Amino acid sequence: MESIKIAPSILSADFSRLKDEIQTVEAAGADWLHIDVMDGHFVPNITVGPVVVESVRKVTKMPLDVHLMITDPDKYAPEFIKAGADWVSIHPNTTKKLSESLQKIRELGAKAAIAVNPDIAIENVEGSFPDIDMILMMTVFPGFAGQAFIADVLPQIEKVRSKIEKEKLPILIEADGGIKADNINLVVRAGAEVIVSGSGIFKTVSYSDTIRRMRQAVGQS
Ligand code: DX5
Ligand code: ZN
Repeated sequence: MESIKIAPSILSADFSRLKDEIQTVEAAGADWLHIDVMDGHFVPNITVGPVVVESVRKVTKMPLDVHLMITDPDKYAPEFIKAGADWVSIHPNTTKKLSESLQKIRELGAKAAIAVNPDIAIENVEGSFPDIDMILMMTVFPGFAGQAFIADVLPQIEKVRSKIEKEKLPILIEADGGIKADNINLVVRAGAEVIVSGSGIFKTVSYSDTIRRMRQAVGQS
């Protein structure tokens, strides 16, 4: 496997100093920036929209990894791509024609991903593999930062990894939720390579120490 990518989630950043937080985490060695979009319908929480993504785009060179937890991704994904999203993840049950939704994301120039909740069997989403560039494995139920990691997802990640290896599929595996320096080895060992961490980075004193510890924990320092 190539080097892991660390994708801090801005949901746990100090929004009153967002530019500063983003630039600090970028200088600390983060690879991607994960942006959690919640609409108060698909999940109870409300976070940010395209306007914020557009502003974030101006202050960092990191790829923007936009995770849509919204009921109408078909309507809004184009706006997020226009605002600067490089990666767009959608939850399969939020669209009637998943394949078309994913193709549309690609047509608009972004990479497409599906986000799989902890209670969804991989077999139920495998049909989308030709349409995706990444599969986002949720290790918490979507909605809030700072939740406890669900280890039951690990065998599912292993299953996806072996399918990808066996069939040589050009799909990245991302893991998202409750990941910190002390458990990152579990998801990486299971096969994840893009690692989202919100509170695990932004709620620590030194982002560079934390990211260094994360890479060390998986033998990639
Ligand atoms: C959960 C979000 C996650 C979350 C990550 O709905 O998709 O990206 O904010 O935050 P931590 O790492 O604190 O669980
Ligand atoms: Zn997320």
